[in-house]
This record gives sequence, structure tokens and C-alpha cells, in this order.
Amino acid sequence: MRATVNVLFVASEVAPFAKVGGLGDVASALPKALAAEGRGHDVRIVMPMYGRITRLEHVTLILREVILDLGGARVAFSVYEGQLPGTKVPVYFVHCPRLYGRYAIYTEDHDEHLRFAVLAWASLVICQRLGFRPDIVHANDWQTALLPLLLRTVFAWDRLFANTRTVLTLHNIGHQGAFDAKVLADLGLAAAAHHLHQDQLREGRINFLLTGLLYANAMTTVSPTYAREVQSPEYGVGLDAFLRERAGVLFGILNGIDEAEWNPSDDPLLPFGYSASALEGKELNKEALLSAAGLPYVREVPVLAVVSRLAWQKGFDLCFNVLPRLFERRAVQLVVLGTGEANYEDFFASLARRFPKQVSYLKKFSEPAAHLFEAGADMFLMPSRYEPCGLNQMYSLRYGTVPIVHRTGGLADTVAQFDKRSGRGNGFSFENFDETGLTWALETALATWGTGSGDDRARWRRLQENGMRARFGWDERVTAYEQVYRMVAPGR
Ligand code: ADP
Ligand code: GLC
Repeated sequence: MRATVNVLFVASEVAPFAKVGGLGDVASALPKALAAEGRGHDVRIVMPMYGRITRLEHVTLILREVILDLGGARVAFSVYEGQLPGTKVPVYFVHCPRLYGRYAIYTEDHDEHLRFAVLAWASLVICQRLGFRPDIVHANDWQTALLPLLLRTVFAWDRLFANTRTVLTLHNIGHQGAFDAKVLADLGLAAAAHHLHQDQLREGRINFLLTGLLYANAMTTVSPTYAREVQSPEYGVGLDAFLRERAGVLFGILNGIDEAEWNPSDDPLLPFGYSASALEGKELNKEALLSAAGLPYVREVPVLAVVSRLAWQKGFDLCFNVLPRLFERRAVQLVVLGTGEANYEDFFASLARRFPKQVSYLKKFSEPAAHLFEAGADMFLMPSRYEPCGLNQMYSLRYGTVPIVHRTGGLADTVAQFDKRSGRGNGFSFENFDETGLTWALETALATWGTGSGDDRARWRRLQENGMRARFGWDERVTAYEQVYRMVAPGR
């Protein structure tokens, strides 16, 4: 294989164009790092042109009205080419208002299967029309998981793809794209349908993610611990047996974070800059955060933050009893930023009403608010039930905001329990996902905070510095992805 690789990177979210969670961040940071000077891979991104994408400045129409005949469905799409901001990485936006013209990125609409089948089809048609010969088609999650099968069947005749291999990254196997088998007629698979999992078809179901993990040449998950977890019945969401069978080509590669965007000493979204050796700015950000949140500022009172999608995965059920008890007994404050399922939104809203001097809930998500929350808080709470990688705990570590987490997935790989005696460790993590576990972690963190002054303060600083000095950049992660690419490439 040549020193550089042609990569077609296909994803349903890519920041800053469209993002629901961490997938959007990774789908922009990883291609950017692969294409960076010194690596120089020819990476091109394909994503849908959602109705909500407004930040499109310089795009060119490169393909007009391509007709896809998928059997039951006939779809026309066009393609616009833009660039990932700050890079030369081309982004191909699949323009199909009938499918993507809605505001939402993900829907429960009747044609959800078609929206993402078309994304996979369009990606390969784009290669054909542009004569782009990918060494690797890199798919992400269920939305793009039909790509390996399409390449092995429907597109196999085309010599353009003779040396193309596929990598599927599992960001979250909690979402699998499971549909009623009647959608099969819309996928354009024709005779290739016999490659689908037949037991499932007989049961009247079709599962996009399962198809991907049967046919991808290699798979990655976004942390080493999650790569092991998904092979167990507890975390495998019904796919564990298939994943165990393919364990030899399943690799855990921890996500990186964009260390330029998340840099406390040079962050345009913060009122005050700071660093591990000069933390005064962090205290000023705390004041600014509390004032924005409408809470009183007291230097010695620790502030906990939550920045999260409020989803079942994130484990906030554990807080329902634990947090009210904590606020009754302890001088501690909490700021929450995020939206999601109504029961969690209602919980944080009622907590804020009940403890108005201690709790504030901002029911929205915004990038500037996320930065201020990370910078101004003392501790960051992430009790996730499961967490493939998680980015916010890494943002927290870098911002000197001590994470309190459930020891699972990427949280287990990035947060190490602080040990008072040795001064090692960067946060607090509990083993068992239950109220006792969470309470223990919160109480241990508060005991370490102590009075928030004098020797206690010095100990806390040590803990903060342990986190702030660690590196979470993309550089070494990219080397791991390159190894996977080389491993599957023909003639290695
Ligand atoms: P997940 O992808 O499971 O939500 P991650 O920790 O990997 O978890 O990524 C979270 C990313 O999404 C971060 O960039 C965070 O700032 C952002 N984010 C958090 N809450 C929201 C929200 N309600 N809407 C949009 N983005 C959010
Ligand atoms: C998913 C996971 C999250 C991970 C992100 C990016 O959204 O829930 O843990 O960090 O993908 O890989």
C-alpha cells in the first residue's frame, strides 16, 4: 500500500455542520487529523445536507439530479462540495430535500431507513462519478453500516472498488437501525438480500448495524474498555455473540479531543484564560458562571457541572434520590446544561426550583455555554450507565474540572481514582451503577475538597494538575487508525 491512503469517511453528523453528540465531533476531528500535514491522507467526507445546515458559505454544485432506483423507492439527489473549516478536506453534501430537508438529524419518520440507505448509496455513486478510488471506506454507526455489504455485492462489479476495504466504527451500539423487514424493498439490494442475516429476516426484522458488523473488514470502537464490554451480554445489546465471533478484527481506539478548541489558556469563548500553573483565571470563570446561572458565589463552596444529552444512556436516574439528599445535607452547588428526554429535564427543573440557591438548570445546549460550564465548575458529573468513549470528561480534565464518573467504557480508560496518599489519579469513579456507588463517589470528592482552603486547596490543585497535564490529542489515535487501515489493505 502507498504511504498515504484514500479514505472515504461517511457519517450522519459532522461538526460544525450538524451535530447531535460526540459522533459529530469525532467525524470532523478524525478526518482533519488524517489529512493534516505529516500524514497527508486523501480524506473526503460524505454527509447529508440537512435542512438545519446553515453555515454553508462556499459550496459548489458538483453532481446534479442523480437518479437512484432502489427497487421500491426512486430517489433523486444532487451533491454539493464544500470544505471542513480550517482544512482542505472536501465535504460532499448529499442534497435530497425529500429525505434531508427536515430540521431534525434523526427522526422516527416512516422513511428513516431510506434516508440512510440513500446516504450509503450516494457515497459510492459519488466515488464513481468523481473517479475517486478509496482504499478505505470508513463508516460510522448504523446509519452508514450498509456500506460494507453494498461494496461486496451491488458495487462489486466496478473495478474502481477492487482494492477498497471497509472499516466500521461503533460509536454507540445502543442504536442499531432495526426496522421491519418490509423496508428491504427500498434498499436496492435485489439479489444481494440473501447476504442479510436470514434468521432476522424470518423474524421480520432487518438490522443495519448487524449487517455492517458481519461484512466490515475491520471494526473499531471508541475506547478499549468498550471494545471488551460490547462482547458481553450485559453491554452487547443483542450483538455480543456476533462481536465475539469477530473479536480478531475489533479494535478499541480511544477518541481524542480537539486540543486547540479546548484549550483553557487560549479559549475565545471564556472570559478569563488560565493554565495548570496559573489557575486564578479559573476562579474568575467560576464567578462568571455562577452569575450567569443566577447562583450566589462563595469561593469555598464546590460547584458541580453537568453538560450532557439527557438520555437514558447517561445514567441520571441515579441522581433522582441521591442529589436531593446531597443538597439537603451539603453546601454544594450544581449547574446543568442540556436537553433531552422529558423525565430528566423535569427532574433538573424541579431540583432547581427546590434548591434555588444551589441548583441552576439551563434547558438548552450551546457551545459557548459548554465552555463556560467546563471552565467555571470545580467538578464534573457523568454517571453514565454505559459510555463508549465520552468527550466531556476529557474536556473537564483539561479544564481542571475534576470528573466524577461511573467506571465504564471510555470513562474507565480516562478517569483514574484519586489517591490522597500518593497524590496520583485525576478524578473519582464508582464501580457499581447504583445509588450507593454514586453517593460514595460524590462524598469522596467532597471529602477531598474539604474546606476548599489551605492544605485542602493544595491537595485539590494537585488533583486538578494531574488532569490538566495529561494529553488527549488526536495524534497518537490517528496512528492507531492508520494501523487498522494498513491491516485490512490488500497486499499488506
Ligand atoms: P454523546 O455523544 O453520547 O452525547 P460525548 O461525551 O461523546 O457523548 O459527546 C458529547 C458532545 O455533545 C460534546 O461535544 C458536548 O458538548 C455535546 N453536547 C452535549 N449535550 C448536547 C446537547 N443537548 N445537544 C447537542 N450537543 C450536546
Ligand atoms: C457516541 C457515544 C460517546 C462517544 C461518541 C463519539 O455518541 O455515546 O460515548 O464519545 O459517540 O465517539
